[in-house]
Amino acid sequence: MRLLLLNGSPRGTAGNTAILLKHFTEGFLANNNNSAETGYLKRAIDHRKLAEKFTGASAVIIAFPLYADSMPGIVKDFIETLGRVRGKGPSPKIGFIVQSGFPEAVHSRYVEKYLEKLARRLDAPYLGTVIRGGVEGIQAMPPFMTRRLFMAFRSLGRHFGVTKEFHPIIVKKLAAKERLSMVKKAVFRACQSIGLTNMYWNMMLKKNGAFERRFDRPYQP
Ligand SMILES: Cc1cc2nc3c(=O)[nH]c(=O)nc-3n(C[C@H](O)[C@H](O)[C@H](O)COP(=O)(O)O)c2cc1C
Repeated sequence: MRLLLLNGSPRGTAGNTAILLKHFTEGFLANNNNSAETGYLKRAIDHRKLAEKFTGASAVIIAFPLYADSMPGIVKDFIETLGRVRGKGPSPKIGFIVQSGFPEAVHSRYVEKYLEKLARRLDAPYLGTVIRGGVEGIQAMPPFMTRRLFMAFRSLGRHFGVTKEFHPIIVKKLAAKERLSMVKKAVFRACQSIGLTNMYWNMMLKKNGAFERRFDRPYQP
């Protein structure tokens, strides 16, 4: 099987989407009959060329981070480009991977509905959407904390490489909890009250020289 993977993260090769796709691809390529190509959507200038590859592929997976409960603008821009090449060739089977910062899968359920509809509009057989929350911190986590997650993505890829389908049990495991339990919510609130939940974000703001401007309102009239 020839698979086209499209990475919709504005962070490109440095992002979390790239890490998850790396493990998925490793599993997928365990079957010697398979080949995979990865395209990056971070530059709008590449969209036309990638949209043409889309129509020639037998299967495509578009993976992206959840942005503002939906998708990064570059992914939407690419989808609009797909609309322009629609009908110029056979549509591939299409699946999606949506990963997010918040841990609950429920955040991604609305965009999931949109993606299913999108596949219909593109006349592309829909393979489903894999949802995974709690991904933002994976690059800062020690290996023992990410081992299971990466293994699950490799298994997902291996199974996809044989059946051209996302394994429903792995998909369910990856989505994990739809919502936080009452206990976790109470722990979260306690951490919030002592400022613990801001630590990571403050660190990122400082790293990017934006900490002093964190309350700016550039669009306020
Ligand atoms: C502009 C922006 C908006 C985001 N919006 C959401 C959101 O609505 N819900 C959520 O759970 N995570 C949100 N996130 C977190 C990302 O989904 C998460 O950090 C993801 O792992 C980033 O993947 P990447 O490194 O491949 O870009 C947002 C991140 C950014 C930068």
